[in-house]
Amino acid sequence: MSTNITWHPGLTRTERESLRRQKGFTIWLTGLSASGKSTIATALEQHLLHNNISAYRLDGDNVRFGLNKDLGFSEKDRNENIRRIAEVSKLFADSSTIAITSFISPYIADRTAARELHGEIPFVEVHVDIPVSVAEQRDPKGLYKKARAGEIKDFTGISAPYEAPEKPEIRVQTDKVSVEEAVKVIVDYLQEKGLVK
Ligand code: PPS
Repeated sequence: MSTNITWHPGLTRTERESLRRQKGFTIWLTGLSASGKSTIATALEQHLLHNNISAYRLDGDNVRFGLNKDLGFSEKDRNENIRRIAEVSKLFADSSTIAITSFISPYIADRTAARELHGEIPFVEVHVDIPVSVAEQRDPKGLYKKARAGEIKDFTGISAPYEAPEKPEIRVQTDKVSVEEAVKVIVDYLQEKGLVK
């Protein structure tokens, strides 16, 4: 922790939300590789932007090209990956934007910490749920095949754990519903909670 620093109070989130006429919050997608997180996150971002609602997607692979390029896939690095993303998503939410995160985020403790960091800011956890066997059949990037061959170590679902959420706000089973249906389930929830109009 740095020393000799002082928090500078400026506009509050409530003031920003009222000026921009939009609530800021985080939609946190969690699930196995190839579960459909990025596809749903992209379709959701598109839907919201088409409806003049400000949203921004933060994606596991993409963020690792820049901000988190110093991190690998050990438990410690994944903890740090999720800690940073929790902070970044909170900043977006604080700016009265909807942050849509799509990270495997395999550990319950990390997701709980992300939720707690948000404090009063709404945090909507979405479990993009799929059996490992189906994700492995899909294997769009060939990563499961490599993991089975021992070419990738610590691969989630194969040689590293995935701790499924016990009580996510939303669960979408992507082997049973389409991308459009998954987006509708999420948007319906947001409307029901008064988070979007
Ligand atoms: S994590 O667990 O939340 O820190 O992972 P994340 O930042 O979401 O990155 C997941 C993407 O990294 C690729 N990849 C791996 N995933 C899991 N385990 C291992 N060992 C691994 N190595 C590389 C993979 O493309 C993941 O993307 P998705 O979109 O989930 O398939």
